[in-house]
Amino acid sequence: MKAHILILLLLVVTFSFCDECKLKLNKEYPEPEEQVDVKEIAALVVKTINETYVQKGEFVRRDAHPKAHGCPRAIFKVLDNIPSEFRHGIFTNSSQSYKAYIRFSNGSPSVNHDLRPDSRGFALKLLGVHGKKLLEDEQDATTQDFVGANKPEFFLSTTSDYLTFFKMVRRGGLDLIKWLIGGQKFREVNAARKFIFTVIGNVLSTQYFSATPYRLGPEVTVKWSVQPVDCYTGVPVSDRLPGMSNDYLTERLKESLNAEETCFDFLVQKQENACEQPMEDPVTEWTTPFVRLARITVPVQELDQSEEGKLFCENLSFSPWHSLEAHQPLGNVNRARKVVYRATSSFRHAQNHEPRVEPKEW
Ligand code: HEM
Ligand SMILES: *[C@@H]1O[C@H](CO)[C@@H](O)[C@H](O)[C@H]1NC(C)=O
Ligand SMILES: *[C@@H]1O[C@H](CO)[C@@H](O)[C@H](O)[C@H]1NC(C)=O
Ligand SMILES: *[C@@H]1O[C@H](CO)[C@@H](O)[C@H](O)[C@H]1NC(C)=O
Repeated sequence: MKAHILILLLLVVTFSFCDECKLKLNKEYPEPEEQVDVKEIAALVVKTINETYVQKGEFVRRDAHPKAHGCPRAIFKVLDNIPSEFRHGIFTNSSQSYKAYIRFSNGSPSVNHDLRPDSRGFALKLLGVHGKKLLEDEQDATTQDFVGANKPEFFLSTTSDYLTFFKMVRRGGLDLIKWLIGGQKFREVNAARKFIFTVIGNVLSTQYFSATPYRLGPEVTVKWSVQPVDCYTGVPVSDRLPGMSNDYLTERLKESLNAEETCFDFLVQKQENACEQPMEDPVTEWTTPFVRLARITVPVQELDQSEEGKLFCENLSFSPWHSLEAHQPLGNVNRARKVVYRATSSFRHAQNHEPRVEPKEW
């Protein structure tokens, strides 16, 4: 009996060694052919918005996240005494504050009733951030963006899956199901269920996540999150029940902005083990502890819902690559976003005859 247990133990130990993972911390693992897929995704996305809007003579919206719930102003303030390993880029100087805009949005390609299950986007743009930026043709821009959504796991782990998914969705349900089942995409289906089908009560009381990894200085890799908190006590705020009207998220945002200031904590979690917190697979949630680095305050304000106000919101271009090198986006999904976001933003601005310029002040 004892011998059996010993053998079993030996087997377990041997297998866990065989399974030893060779991935290194802070290291990306690009696939040789991935830029081919990336170019194809960008072309498909542009083709889609061309067919959806331009050819019908309509104002061109984003391919994903086309419904803005609003673009309030915010202030992003670095906390005092953050651990020295995180003092890079915008976090270099204690107590430094930046003016910012946040664009809250739906996730799916169409503008829907707010009760329809969807993912929700959080796009933060800090202003007055000096230093060379990563987009080759926007190196002098003074903005730093953080683009996330309301779930910690993205639902596609690779660029080639995104490409197939994109094609399948447009081709119709049956092909999509065949691909998911045939390819045994069970992890993705489960993540998609969580990522795409959420209903929220208020965009200001929802937590958002980067889902994908970023540099924080040359030696640390993190994912970030923004958590709604009470401005005075710092205690996390829970979301309220959904509303009924078509645009209740905008209506409630407007009410909240009129009533009192609201806050989020900006948190990061580190990659500590490159196998448990993989760089190239945003379907895997990281479970390392979150550390607070900054406070986002959304001051009392009037949400501008005039035609001009709405146009301002559509006119903004967010990209994880509007970034200092110290916050470089990492992993295959982020590498794809560099090309895709730029291509679609350029196309829609050109078609809408709007200049594509980063905002400087508010
Ligand atoms: C390969 C992966 C991805 C592709 C191809 C993709 C594609 C796009 C596209 C085409 C847009 C519209 C950009 C524009 O016209 O300005 C967009 C916007 C957006 N995406 Fe993604 N996306 C990807 C991954 C992600 C991930 C992982 C997240 C969050 C966790 C995310 C969150 C957002 C948000 C919040 C916006 C709206 C930004 C705004 O308000 O302007 N995306 N995405
Ligand atoms: C958009 O559609 C028009 C009309 O079909 C076509 O001439 C044009 O080349 C398309 N543009 C892009 C970038 O696909
Ligand atoms: C931090 O403060 C120093 C000294 O005031 C300044 O030179 C530097 O530009 C600041 N860094 C950032 C990232 O703003
Ligand atoms: C769009 O953005 C550009 C650059 O910030 C600005 O010049 C233009 O006036 C904006 N248009 C609207 C309608 O806000």
